[in-house]
Amino acid sequence: MRTLTSNSNIRKATLADLDAVMAIETESFGMDAFGERQMRYLMKSATSLFYIAETKNLLAGYVILLIRKNSHQMRIYSIAVSSLLRGKGVGQYLIDFALKTAENRLKSSLKLEVRTTNSGAIQLYERNKFTSVKIIPDYYHDGCDALVMKRKP
Ligand SMILES: CC(C)(COP(=O)(O)OP(=O)(O)OC[C@H]1O[C@@H](n2cnc3c(N)ncnc32)[C@H](O)[C@@H]1OP(=O)(O)O)[C@@H](O)C(=O)NCCC(=O)NCCS
Repeated sequence: MRTLTSNSNIRKATLADLDAVMAIETESFGMDAFGERQMRYLMKSATSLFYIAETKNLLAGYVILLIRKNSHQMRIYSIAVSSLLRGKGVGQYLIDFALKTAENRLKSSLKLEVRTTNSGAIQLYERNKFTSVKIIPDYYHDGCDALVMKRKP
């Protein structure tokens, strides 16, 4: 596992990040990508935590966590890293942030959906102790199934 340099940090997303976020979202998720309006909403909503990973002052990736009042469960709604910066530890950095946030917030569990064909992401989650819960058939735009994964606090 390659580790990030000290030139990396995580901060809250702002509307000024929208264009860079949309570029990563679109290249990462194609037909399933969130639209600009939805991203704008997620950046402002009180029920989401939208965080940016920067490395050497570049927007390297982001994670969106959904929260519910008094709930002990959070959802990783989206996580993506720029295709130019993958394989350098940014995804792990974002997962570390999500795990720490869940721990600090009512010791919550984390839940997510991932394409059953997305072996890279599944490997990232498994190495972070996420386990498979169930399959949701025909979940994505192209008919691909989703694997639901969960990580206990
Ligand atoms: C999945 C994603 C976020 C991983 O980000 P990343 O910065 O490339 O991941 P990291 O460099 O932090 O990798 C950490 C570990 O995850 C696993 N991993 C990540 N990408 C992998 C790949 N393509 N193949 C196999 N394992 C992979 C490995 O175990 C890796 O550790 P290693 O480098 O010691 O082998 C990134 O590939 C991405 O944005 N993909 C497109 C969007 C997406 O699929 N998001 C998930 C939706 S559920």
